[in-house]
Amino acid sequence: MAEKQRLRIAVLGTGYLGATHAACMADLGFDVLGLDTDQSKIASLSSGRVPFYEPGLEEVLNRNLAAGRLRFTTDYAEVAAFADVHFICVGTPQQANSNAADLRYVDAVVDTLAPLLTRPAVIIGKSTVPVGTAARLAARFRALAPAGEAVELGWSPEFLRESHGVEDTLNPNRIVLGTDSPRVEQVMREICASQIERGIPFLVTDLQTAELVKVSANAFLATKISFINAMAEVCEAVGADVIQLAKALSYDDRIGGKFLGPGLGFGGGCLPKDIRAFMARADELGVESALSFLREVDAINQRRRARTIDIARGLIGGSFAGRTVGVLGASFKPNSDDIRDSPALDVAATINSLGARVTVYDPEALENAKRAYPQLNFAHTMLEAVRDAEVVLLLTEWAEFRDADPDELGKVVAEKRIVDGRNALDPDYWRSRGWTYRALGRP
Ligand code: UDX
Repeated sequence: MAEKQRLRIAVLGTGYLGATHAACMADLGFDVLGLDTDQSKIASLSSGRVPFYEPGLEEVLNRNLAAGRLRFTTDYAEVAAFADVHFICVGTPQQANSNAADLRYVDAVVDTLAPLLTRPAVIIGKSTVPVGTAARLAARFRALAPAGEAVELGWSPEFLRESHGVEDTLNPNRIVLGTDSPRVEQVMREICASQIERGIPFLVTDLQTAELVKVSANAFLATKISFINAMAEVCEAVGADVIQLAKALSYDDRIGGKFLGPGLGFGGGCLPKDIRAFMARADELGVESALSFLREVDAINQRRRARTIDIARGLIGGSFAGRTVGVLGASFKPNSDDIRDSPALDVAATINSLGARVTVYDPEALENAKRAYPQLNFAHTMLEAVRDAEVVLLLTEWAEFRDADPDELGKVVAEKRIVDGRNALDPDYWRSRGWTYRALGRP
């Protein structure tokens, strides 16, 4: 432990990934300095407030601020002077006009930090990047850093799920490190010592394999979701029940039940943009046909949104014009306030554009949703959102919605009609309470 505490860690970028990583590294006993160019984020984190919703994170943040192991700054010079190890945790969103990843934030970190590195440093990339990026950045560090060859880079992709960020960072199911440098490997083994001791697999690969592990994991997860959603389409054509189908499949442990939940499909800041960036990169590498199935995975996922809208439209007689619609859920998944590529808000905005008055409620994502979708109406309770609704859509499966009382909702809606976009409710129960219940992939 004494040896370990001497390693000083910087975390560059303090979004969902970086803020969680910084707080958890401090919790493992390291001295950590988090950097972001967004002054308001840094002010918030420094005062012990997490600027987004991530269960459990605020407690870890405050514990480590109080212990003096964790600080935040906007100053790259401070970071360069402080840290032995720099983790790159900035975002790699989809480019505005293409499927490819936008690497401007990663490039900005490298171009700003490298010229300040006058002493040996290990750089560990965690951001999700197109395969080949790490090797390019390693060369750039060597070229720009005054310390030259003494700045070495490895890539260790992050697999954390939002809403389980703290748990996934402290107890990952595996740690992957891409590097050919013994020093980088030794430093990462030191940082991850307590996890390695507990038997968490630690895999060392070359840079490009490590980059590929991340994108192929997300491609697989997205494919699994779209597979079951494709089965839902077939089920709808023949009146079969995709929930029973998925359950029966899940008993085969070669298939397994995780990520086999049919419904409105995947969204968020990772799966959609990662599969698109992966296809774009495959194109550049001349192996586009190897990933052409991902185009279909994406298309199936988008069709679920259209299908949800069709079912709701069908329930109210074929047109949304002038109708009142209540939407439950705005975040891309429960227990998160992240609305990036949120299927729920995509559906809500489309229905609104078709002429309905749409009111949305979400337990945590309302502020983000309001900023991004000013054309929608927002309510501060579930009952307010569904008041006078002619159809209700459940689009994110928060516990509050799963546990909703059909009789209570029934008293305020105009018509008892519900589209369960997440297969979160018990159809028999809702029907027994007088509701017209529809779900994706079920009779
Ligand atoms: C994902 C990966 O799980 C994680 O390993 C990676 O580091 C980042 O991307 P995250 O985006 O936080 O994590 O969300 P996740 O829990 O994976 O859910 C992704 C989307 O898939 C959500 O919109 C969710 O609603 C949807 N989903 C998930 C389904 O539609 N069905 C399922 O069975 C599971």
